[in-house]
Amino acid sequence: MTQKTILRALAGERLPVPPVWMMRQAGRYLPEYRATRAQAGDFLSLCYTPDLAAEVTLQPIRRYDFDAAILFADILLIPQALGLDLWFVTGEGPRLSTVTSAAEVAALKPVDAIHETLSPVYETVRILSRELPDRTTLIGFAGAPWTVATYMIAGRGTPDQGPAHAFKDADREAFSALIDRVTEATIAYLLAQVAAGAEVVKLFDSWAGSLRGRDFDDFALKPAQRIIAALKARHPHLPVIAFPREAGPRYAGFARATGADCVALDNSVSADWAAAEVQKDGCVQGNLDPRLLVQGGDALETETRRVVRAFSGGPHIFNLGHGITPDADPDNVSRMIAAIRG
Ligand code: CP3
Repeated sequence: MTQKTILRALAGERLPVPPVWMMRQAGRYLPEYRATRAQAGDFLSLCYTPDLAAEVTLQPIRRYDFDAAILFADILLIPQALGLDLWFVTGEGPRLSTVTSAAEVAALKPVDAIHETLSPVYETVRILSRELPDRTTLIGFAGAPWTVATYMIAGRGTPDQGPAHAFKDADREAFSALIDRVTEATIAYLLAQVAAGAEVVKLFDSWAGSLRGRDFDDFALKPAQRIIAALKARHPHLPVIAFPREAGPRYAGFARATGADCVALDNSVSADWAAAEVQKDGCVQGNLDPRLLVQGGDALETETRRVVRAFSGGPHIFNLGHGITPDADPDNVSRMIAAIRG
């Protein structure tokens, strides 16, 4: 059997046509997602109902035959499993009870307790590994500790991660203890996803770009390095994708420093720069501006071909620079795929 295209690219192979999937490929731009979401009631019920979470994961595979499926869940399930309250306010986003002191970090549930909350997610992975086509790779994921901690500290999304920076700067020791606790929980969570059938894992560090200098080393690089080392100690051949979003120049060397097999690029870095400075260390993924899937037209095809061409000299997985947005046109996704697969 030929190995799956995504796994070949992650192993460092340059393919004549890059494999493709999209961040947030199961989501509100798809009418079938909106229907299943309505059936589940709210977003968290969808995450914790394995049959429905598996169904929405499969929807974009049926519609577009993407080369990978990403488990349907959310990065904020980990804080909930560590004991925080979590809810989503329609039209506004996530809300959590907060952690802002050493005592509150110490009061989080122990890492072993997370599986009680997260076991439905592992069941979703088991269903998917049975039901996905043989050619489709199943990607598990978690948020990276810094990004997850920014939500735990602020209790919501923030434009500049101000509360998390304030906690870090006021009490670096307590803040580091929080990062450590989330790091350990993330290792346990990802190992359980792999045991259930995830073939690749991805770490989402959506707010990595707001860390500077030594903070970037301590709270973006080191936790990723620790998580990847722990996963590979148990599963030496498990491919890992890291997404240090908006890391800019710090994208260079990120794969070497962390042991990641692939680095996911946002759309603020130049593809030509990344081909020279990031792809030299292995596979790259991403970079297409998700707004093009709203806009469509010639720009979508031109930019899609430009990204394919820029990364054609090495291992490449086609993807967006960030998640597809609810206002995207599903037909534009077909146009993008046609431009890639020709
Ligand atoms: O990519 C996928 O299709 C897999 C599933 C997935 C979701 N969220 C589903 C989701 C993944 C990998 C995530 C990651 C995630 N979640 C991140 C990191 C990646 C990124 O986008 O930067 C972050 C920061 C979150 C936290 C989160 N979840 C926010 C801020 C929101 C609200 C914003 C919004 O788009 O409404 C969510 C909700 C969420 N997670 C939705 C989906 C499909 C929309 C929920 C809905 O159906 O109403």
